[in-house]
Amino acid sequence: MSRARISIDRDFTISEVPRRLFGSFVEHMGRCVYTGIYEPGHPEADEQGFRKDVLALTQELGATVIRYPGGNFVSGYNWEDGIGPVADRPRRLDGAWHTVENNAFGLHEFVDWSKKAGTEIMEAINLGTRGVEAAREIVEYANHPGGTYWSDLRAKNGHKEPFDIKLWCLGNEMDGPWQIGHKTAHEYGRLAQEAAKAMRLVDPTLELVACGSSNSGMPTFGEWERTVLTHTYEEVDYLSLHAYYQEQEGDAESFLASAVDMDHFIEAVVATADAVRAKGRHKKHINLSFDEWNVWYSRPGDPDSPEYLATQPWQQHPRVIEDKYNVTDAVVVGTLLNSLLRHSDRVKIANQAQLVNVIAPILAEPNGPAWRQTIFHPFALMASLAKGQVMRTEILSDTVETSRFGAADLVDASITWDEESGKMALFLANRGLEEAAQVQVRLGGFDAGEVTKAEVLHVPSGLDRFAKNTLELPRQVGMRPLDGVAAAGDQLTLTLPALSWAVVELSVAKK
Ligand code: AHR
Repeated sequence: MSRARISIDRDFTISEVPRRLFGSFVEHMGRCVYTGIYEPGHPEADEQGFRKDVLALTQELGATVIRYPGGNFVSGYNWEDGIGPVADRPRRLDGAWHTVENNAFGLHEFVDWSKKAGTEIMEAINLGTRGVEAAREIVEYANHPGGTYWSDLRAKNGHKEPFDIKLWCLGNEMDGPWQIGHKTAHEYGRLAQEAAKAMRLVDPTLELVACGSSNSGMPTFGEWERTVLTHTYEEVDYLSLHAYYQEQEGDAESFLASAVDMDHFIEAVVATADAVRAKGRHKKHINLSFDEWNVWYSRPGDPDSPEYLATQPWQQHPRVIEDKYNVTDAVVVGTLLNSLLRHSDRVKIANQAQLVNVIAPILAEPNGPAWRQTIFHPFALMASLAKGQVMRTEILSDTVETSRFGAADLVDASITWDEESGKMALFLANRGLEEAAQVQVRLGGFDAGEVTKAEVLHVPSGLDRFAKNTLELPRQVGMRPLDGVAAAGDQLTLTLPALSWAVVELSVAKK
């Protein structure tokens, strides 16, 4: 049995929980939109063709803000193709995913869907093939009250009231050579600066996200951030980060330590942003938007891989990267969320990529059911229970040495405290593949009351760490009661099974 001691103190907090950390992502990619959130004719479709089963799961997931419409897709997308009468919308080739886009779903549909889902919109603009003019026009279309060409067109298309979209991404992964309209940091920085300026001249209340690196392994990582922020510092509010993790060659220990890499990535980008702040003598801080993150198994030979599909005839919404997640993936996702919460003084937005079917917590069969993948559970519980303040957690844990990310604590945690409700929530992971972990938590400045929830996700008996939820067995892996949680005074003790993710919620009183 491994051991961990965790300490918090009532006076040591990181930030109020940024609700936008529980964001998701809908891209026109594979079956995320078509036969994902939107499938006219499906038995669960509403009058607009939105799948009610997927809407209900989105609400249960607790996603707060949803990035749209891409992703790589946005860098070749004309937003005007998705407005006006559906019958008049053009069919186009989407070069990013080698598919045919019929534009039956566009901005109005996404706004209506978001209202039903109860989610905020994070709209991405195309800075690959387009530029300043399209950027300011979409803002006028979306947010201007009326009396101008674009705002009146919105009203004519059925929405008299402005959409009032506050959060905008200035392009997507523009550092990546695969991106349509890929740019150097200097080219992108100047374009983003001018697009941001023009957009803010239409609506000064916008919050803007500049593209950071596509991942921390990019050869331009660091220099890209520095150059882009040197141009855009005064114009933008956030810089983006993207990261996808996967188990490589059976090295589960390293994979389970992915959050150590996420910690380093975030800290490096914060340092770079603050260096630009110091050099430019800027007053404000640039915060971070981790607007794509998840587990993603890239297998170029698979029939649903982008590499394979690129060799096939053009299709409409084929299956693309429909990863099936297992118990290990769920533990990793829980620890990635812990990393985001622990850095919530600077990471204010995060979007798990994507919402449904494409590397997603929700799977939905065309004309069939929808269900929760393993990774659904940590996300949903954290989105619903992480409230109030994120506490500074000091963890003294036995460690595991990993080949990719060095030493990692066997026990990983984040803790939130909501003074208003008097509830504390602990999100805990045991990275140990074989051993249970005994955890002792000191709740400095608090008296523990009743434990109101204690649940764990681990390997179901008779199965192994690769157990998944499938069409045939959609509830094979889920949350189960966690027994033996003891709370008294300022102490909480519990035992985490091997390879597990757990949540404990309890009432606390201030001492
Ligand atoms: O989420 C899938 C893809 O991953 C996105 O389109 C792109 O931005 C990233 O490379």
